[in-house]
Order: sequence, then structure tokens, then C-alpha cells
Amino acid sequence: MSWAGQKVLVTGGAGFIGSHLCDALVAAEAQVVAVDDLSVGTRDNLKQAEALGLKFVHGTIMEPEAWSDRLAEVTHVFHLAVACLRRSFHQPMVVHEINATGTLAVLEACRRHAPHLQRFLYCSSSEIYGSALHTPMDEQHPLRPTTVYGASKLAGEVYTLAAELPVTVARPFNTYGPREHHQGASGEVIPRFVVRIANGLAPIIFGDGSQTRDFTHVSDTARGLMLAAERPEGRGQIVNLARGREVSIARIAELLLQKMGRADLQPEFRRARPSDVDRHFAATGKARELLGFEAELDIEAGLDRYLQWFHEAYPQASGLLEEVQDQNW
Ligand SMILES: NC(=O)c1ccc[n+]([C@@H]2O[C@H](COP(=O)([O-])OP(=O)(O)OC[C@H]3O[C@@H](n4cnc5c(N)ncnc54)[C@H](O)[C@@H]3O)[C@@H](O)[C@H]2O)c1
Repeated sequence: MSWAGQKVLVTGGAGFIGSHLCDALVAAEAQVVAVDDLSVGTRDNLKQAEALGLKFVHGTIMEPEAWSDRLAEVTHVFHLAVACLRRSFHQPMVVHEINATGTLAVLEACRRHAPHLQRFLYCSSSEIYGSALHTPMDEQHPLRPTTVYGASKLAGEVYTLAAELPVTVARPFNTYGPREHHQGASGEVIPRFVVRIANGLAPIIFGDGSQTRDFTHVSDTARGLMLAAERPEGRGQIVNLARGREVSIARIAELLLQKMGRADLQPEFRRARPSDVDRHFAATGKARELLGFEAELDIEAGLDRYLQWFHEAYPQASGLLEEVQDQNW
């Protein structure tokens, strides 16, 4: 299938992964509408895509009737809007509402208002698995989320699979790269480490640093999402999207300290955070066989790209330090 001329709607399109997906779709000549309430995402993230014709709708997935006229000719919906993991410790009901009820609301809107829909792609998360009981984690791995976030993402999966629509569930593992958030509750480990190191401070590791994640560059995740939505074989399927390598948090700190020329700094260790999973390491065979998807960037090359972007985006990193102070989120 060619994306040229396809009419696509992306919820959460102004966010980290959503904006890269929008860039890739627009580059493939799809006609894209991004819906986002800008609670976390920014219009700036969509600057490139808007210059190439993307249409932006400022709206919430909780009230799809306000923008459901945009679904009339849509062929593909990518549902990425989300309330993030750490928010679920403080506002579990809000996170449930946005991630579970909000997904159902978007599905219902598609069922009623999208007569030409060829695929609804639900962007799930590796957090639905909980910590690895065996590795690599294939799609049959038990589902034992350790947070309301993970549980609400799983509820969204179940609603998606129960919908009378052509659906696909993609389960990205930890995604990193340009535009990833360092701020507050949405802040992720790589940007937080980078902001601290750029300010001459040691990265802070929660726990002993042996916990692992299957870090996947956002360009790979976005490409995987598109393949999952375009391949006929993806219909009705659940598929992991990951690099398929396990990297510890201590190794990430070590790599960043080296790459940023601060090998003299030693990470600081703090008490492990509740509900952090110990291991995430994906089986990638299904994505390869079903979609022909394989992640291209290894962690070293991916971090290099991230650092290049970071230095261009934030020539003065000192102003960012305040935004990563709330490390316990
Ligand atoms: N970042 C990761 O490592 C990762 C890993 C696995 C899965 N995912 C999934 O990928 C998707 C995108 O995540 P992300 O990291 O880009 O997060 P993000 O926070 O950058 O993007 C989410 C976007 O949704 C928007 N949003 C929030 N509530 C909304 C609402 N009610 N209505 C409309 N828009 C709303 C936010 O403003 C934001 O732009 C999510 O579904 C997430 O579960 C992310």
C-alpha cells in the first residue's frame, strides 16, 4: 500500500512519538489531520509537518463530537493520545479516563463517523506486560501491568480488539529520540540524564541501575506503526515494536557520560521507585515476519542522534535544570 493520498487522523499527534509519525506520514504524502489537546504536546513539534500540509485540530479525545466531522473521509486512524505513566501515581482516575474511556470514545467516533476506515491502529505499550517473567518477551507473555497507566493501556487494547472495526494493536517498547520530554511527570530517563550531565551534574539512577529496557529510536517506532497499519497481515493482530536488545539504565548513564565528555562524573543512586519494572526485552520475530519490520538504529547511534538534536534545540541547557528537579515523579 502507498500512503500517498491516504487520509489519516492521528490522535496525540503533537506529542513525542505522534509528531514523528506525522512527519513520516506527511513525507509519504498522506493527508494528515492531527488531533491534540496540547496538554503535553506542542504545536512546535508539528512545525515541519504543518509546513508540508498537515492540518491541526486543537481538541480532546474525550469529546470526539467536536472534531468527528474530520473522520468522514479518513482511511486510517492512529490513536496515540495518552496520559503518561507517572501521572497515574497521582491522578489514577484521570489517567484511566483518558487512556481507557478516551480510547473507547475514539473507537465509537470511528464506528459512527468513519465509513471509509481501513485501519484503526491502537498504540499500546510494553507497560501492559509488567516486568519480564521470561525473555525475550513475545506477544503471548502474561499481562501483569504494575501501574494504573499500564492497566489503562491494556483496557484500551481490549476495547480496540472488541470493536467492530479493522484494528491493529502495536506495543512499542521504550522509545527515545528528538522531542522526547525531560519535563516533570512526562520526563523520561534519557533526556533527564542528558539535562543533568549538560549542567555538570551526575545522572540520578533510581535503584541499582541493573533494570533494563528495550530502547527503540523514535524513527524506528514511527516506521513500525506505519507498517502495522498498512500491511494487510497486521489486521486483527497484536505486535511488539522494539529494537530487540536489553540495555540497563546504568549502561545508558555510562554511555551518555562518555559521549558528553563527562566520564569523570559518577551516577548518584537513589531508592528504587515503586512500580518500576525490572526487565523489558522484546521478542521481535512477529513484527519481522508479519510486517517486515526491523529496528535500524542501535542504542549508540540513536543516542548520538539524540545528543545532536539536543544541542541544537537547547544551546543553553542551564535553563532546563529546574524542569528535571522533580525527580521522584
Ligand atoms: N514514549 C514511550 O517510550 C512509549 C512507549 C510505549 C508506548 N508509548 C505510547 O505511545 C503513545 C505516544 O506516547 P508519547 O511518548 O509520544 O507521549 P506524549 O505525551 O508525548 O504524547 C501524547 C499526546 O497526547 C496528547 N493528549 C493527552 N491527553 C489528550 C486528550 N485528552 N485529547 C487529545 N490529546 C491528548 C498530549 O498533549 C500529547 O501530545 C502513547 O499511546 C503511549 O502510551 C510510548
